[in-house]
Amino acid sequence: FPLQSLNTFRIAARAQAYLRVESLDQLRAALADPAVAALPRLVLGGGSNVLLTGDVAGLVLHIALAGRERVGSDADHHYVKAAAGEHWHEFVQWTLAQGMGGLENLSLIPGTVGAAPIQNIGAYGAETKDLFHSLTVFDPATGQTRTMDAAACRFGYRDSVFKHAAGQGLIIVDVTFALPRAWQPNLRYAELAQAVAEQGLVAPTARQVADTVIAIRRRKLPDPAEIGNAGSFFKNPVVDAAQCADLLARFPALVHHRQPDGSEKLAAGWLIDQCGWKGRSLGPAGVYAKQALVLVNHGGATGADVVRLAQAIQADVQARYGVRLEPEPVFV
Ligand code: EPU
Repeated sequence: FPLQSLNTFRIAARAQAYLRVESLDQLRAALADPAVAALPRLVLGGGSNVLLTGDVAGLVLHIALAGRERVGSDADHHYVKAAAGEHWHEFVQWTLAQGMGGLENLSLIPGTVGAAPIQNIGAYGAETKDLFHSLTVFDPATGQTRTMDAAACRFGYRDSVFKHAAGQGLIIVDVTFALPRAWQPNLRYAELAQAVAEQGLVAPTARQVADTVIAIRRRKLPDPAEIGNAGSFFKNPVVDAAQCADLLARFPALVHHRQPDGSEKLAAGWLIDQCGWKGRSLGPAGVYAKQALVLVNHGGATGADVVRLAQAIQADVQARYGVRLEPEPVFV
């Protein structure tokens, strides 16, 4: 089964078997078949955070569960629940249209609702975990669903239990968010605060913040509908204070952000840019010209082409800065 249209990198890999799942009953019934359950599984949502490095020997489970609703409110929050297959950006825009702010900083992130908690998607000073209430998983090992709260999900920077052995195999079927009734704009991210101020907005609405985020992203990030990519290809590396001080002595312009625990997060895009990779290509895979953190498929790239480029970048950044860049997408 061809996967090219199911991954935003537009890698032309194939799957041994493919199943599009539109209901929990269908999912349960499919996995109750021992022949299906025995196959290795790749769960796919929007395909916006995977790099297919070859054909998939096993079953691709395409989660297309649909539906979103307001499930209640209390003194502090509105609660909204969306099925895992819902398109993330459309879901965010729907919450805003309902008059509920909170998710606006996460506008225009590609992918699905079910994928959002897996890597705790974040942008412009907000992360999924900040607005998260709980989620439902289907556990193929038991055939049952269960609810998991934020603590059970063990969220970290672009990380959660679902990226580790303890959570692997669980299939997210829906996610519930707690959106603040007393909404305040989150303008902690300097670039966003500046873009809001430049429009003369003193007390921006959630809609206006969303529009500002959308404009910034359109300016800097490639639209996967036009050019294959998976967003940031590397995580921003975190180093200890001593290593950061040492780097700053040699590279005074180093971009760094102090973390609550005293460690320092470096800007991978800056490191890659400084190594001269911005806009450069290696065969059909390249570094996006407007944002060095994003690797792109200029057409016809295989997973191996992207891996070769990523390794060349890692080697240069390691040699110059002594910092190891970790990929952000899941390699399959
Ligand atoms: N920079 C450069 N050259 C570049 C790119 C960046 O010098 O080519 C510098 C910028 O000038 C800035 C710093 O690096 O000082 C950070 O860049 P930016 O603000 O664009 O953010 P980022 O670190 O590149 C992160 C997230 C993005 C998210 C933005 C906005 C990660 C890995 N990436 O990017 O997330 O949209 O912040 O919050 O944390 C994603 O995860 O796919 C993603 C796009």
